[in-house]
Amino acid sequence: MKRVLVTGTAGFIGFYLARLLLDEGMVVHGYDALTDYYDVTLKERRNQMLLQSPGYSFTHATLEEDGTFERVAAEFSPDIIVHLAGQAGVRYSLENPRAYLDSNLVGTFNVMEAARQLQVAHLLMASTSSVYGANEEMPFKETDKADTPLTFYAATKKANEAMAHSYAHLWQIPTTMFRFFTVYGPWGRPDMALFKFTKGIFEGTPIDIYNHGDMYRDFTYVDDLVRGIRSLMDAVPGGPETAVEEDTLSPAAPYRIVNIGNSDKVRLMDFIEAIEAETGIAAKRNYMDMQKGDVFATWADASLLRNLTGYAPQTDVRDGVAKFVAWYRDYYRI
Ligand SMILES: NC(=O)c1ccc[n+]([C@@H]2O[C@H](COP(=O)([O-])OP(=O)(O)OC[C@H]3O[C@@H](n4cnc5c(N)ncnc54)[C@H](O)[C@@H]3O)[C@@H](O)[C@H]2O)c1
Repeated sequence: MKRVLVTGTAGFIGFYLARLLLDEGMVVHGYDALTDYYDVTLKERRNQMLLQSPGYSFTHATLEEDGTFERVAAEFSPDIIVHLAGQAGVRYSLENPRAYLDSNLVGTFNVMEAARQLQVAHLLMASTSSVYGANEEMPFKETDKADTPLTFYAATKKANEAMAHSYAHLWQIPTTMFRFFTVYGPWGRPDMALFKFTKGIFEGTPIDIYNHGDMYRDFTYVDDLVRGIRSLMDAVPGGPETAVEEDTLSPAAPYRIVNIGNSDKVRLMDFIEAIEAETGIAAKRNYMDMQKGDVFATWADASLLRNLTGYAPQTDVRDGVAKFVAWYRDYYRI
């Protein structure tokens, strides 16, 4: 049976991943500081659901505080670490860059140190499609250069990729970095578009539509995303014999980078129309200019994920939006 240490389990993606692993009978230790970046009640509710499972235990602490993560990891003795905790959000990184420095750089360093000391069988960590920055070539492929981050958030994640490569090389830690593309679904984050649009539509307040709606995102349904993570847990990077077609396997380390996205570029206005159709309410639209640091489009080439695992996300955005709106109505009793 696998023992998996998952950081960020009170968060959106970590909650879903922990649930999936527990359903498979694995033993999971969750680690999360329940930061107040968004509604802490949502995080508490997610974590309480996980605590119902006898296979789940939990530590409430920050990653960057001295020695705590290393001690907890040593006590739990995981086979695998999946590191999803972090300061997320593109726009907030303009307001409070230091939060990204602490959580994403110092915090991730502590996770890597624990992985080194415990010689885990596989370390998997979250990066982001934001590292593609100003790239214009679409869809985004892992082998493309990604040297033009447009926000400090993207820069810290790009730094995580480089930090992890050095540790994978020096200490032979098999490491997989995920680049996630706009994840959405029930229990999703209040700072993200789907949540904000749905809230505005139900409350009758105008929703801010950046770049006058001329934007595209590769929206990835959260169940699909965590299924992708789960399948990559078994695709342990090693020597050249572990390489597949179109691989990013490093020649110098057991390390690879993998996109997890739907491979479907959705127009922002179509996304809004899907929410309107589901709620039965027309949105009040507040058209705005492009925001500083925002990118015009994201679109994943997900062939590497498919080559490695045989799996590819496929939930249609209308089905995913319907599930989110149903959850929102239920959660907020609308
Ligand atoms: N959701 C997306 O669309 C998306 C896209 C690309 C990348 N990512 C990355 O995936 C990961 C998970 O994202 P999410 O959407 O679940 O975000 P989330 O904010 O819901 O979850 C992150 C969790 O980490 C915890 N956390 C933050 N800083 C911490 C610290 N210093 N110490 C301990 N815990 C801390 C938070 O309390 C939160 O519960 C993040 O690293 C994020 O950057 C997410």
